[in-house]
Amino acid sequence: MTKPIILTGDRPTGKLHIGHYVGSLRNRVLLQNEGKYDLFVFLADQQALTDHAKDPQTIIESIGNVALDYLAAGLDPEKVTIFIQSQIPELAELTMYYMNLVSLARLERNPTVKTEIAQKGFGQSIPTGFLVYPISQAADITAFKANYVPVGTDQKPMIEQTREIVRSFNNAYQKDVLVEPEGIYPENEAAGRLPGLDGNAKMSKSLNNGIYLADDMDTLKKKVMGMYTDPNHIRVEDPGKIEGNMVFHYLDVFGRPEDQAEIAAMKEHYQRGGLGDVKTKRYLLEILERELGPIRERRIEFAKDMVQVYDMLRKGSEKARQKASQTLSEVKSAMGINYF
Ligand code: TRP
Repeated sequence: MTKPIILTGDRPTGKLHIGHYVGSLRNRVLLQNEGKYDLFVFLADQQALTDHAKDPQTIIESIGNVALDYLAAGLDPEKVTIFIQSQIPELAELTMYYMNLVSLARLERNPTVKTEIAQKGFGQSIPTGFLVYPISQAADITAFKANYVPVGTDQKPMIEQTREIVRSFNNAYQKDVLVEPEGIYPENEAAGRLPGLDGNAKMSKSLNNGIYLADDMDTLKKKVMGMYTDPNHIRVEDPGKIEGNMVFHYLDVFGRPEDQAEIAAMKEHYQRGGLGDVKTKRYLLEILERELGPIRERRIEFAKDMVQVYDMLRKGSEKARQKASQTLSEVKSAMGINYF
């Protein structure tokens, strides 16, 4: 029996933060260890280039950094195929054929792309590659015949677009070559969208409100000690609010079952008054360090041998390429353009 295929990817636009970790990375490690799936994880550098064409440096550097984050978080190249999108030319070729099955109007309706266009301020100069990236994403997914694609809820339109392309292709060429994927979305919204240290809805590099897997202990401590709590909780005796208080929000996300009694007691004490922010922050620091300390240590170890990290990426890309190439040849046969 062949195992169901899971594929997911990240745009390499910076180091990964703990929002990525609780939102998806941690879950990928669990899926890997279940051993029930054939797992592919990749760095979507071509997709990242669709809005960074003239400054590729960040993306190039992020390849090594994100690969280190993967390994540090526990992804094991013996169990997961980790690869780089740009090293699989078959993906671009598939994109070419899929483009003929999607109208311009359909691309312009994609709500995630619309939001991004507004945020990025392209004005009238939207790069064609940017508008088309959902089609290239369909190529990423279908090249590996992925059954499941774990992603954030913002990626729903991409999964829907992929499913449409699959149906349209199989129907046009009267062959079930491509597989319709299903998205897997975070169950726990609190973890799916970890807010920033400042209480902002999103943890992001540009807002400078994140904790990174690569952060050292001092940086982690400074960041936790500076977290947004309850601005009206001025004296220790004052009753404090836990809603919107990032320390308690993070405790809810990172606390393990055995911590729940302590967390509940702290919440009660904080709301009653008499529990200071420094104490709650020290406790959160302990909880975070328990999770992040081993990741940081592993990251330091892997970073000592970047040649080995790139070798891992090369091997993963070679393996991925075989699979993509097989699908491409089936696609071309179905279309009848396998001339020789
Ligand atoms: N669009 C995804 C993101 O921004 C990255 C991505 C590219 C992806 N290709 C993919 C995710 C294929 C899942 C499957 O996070």
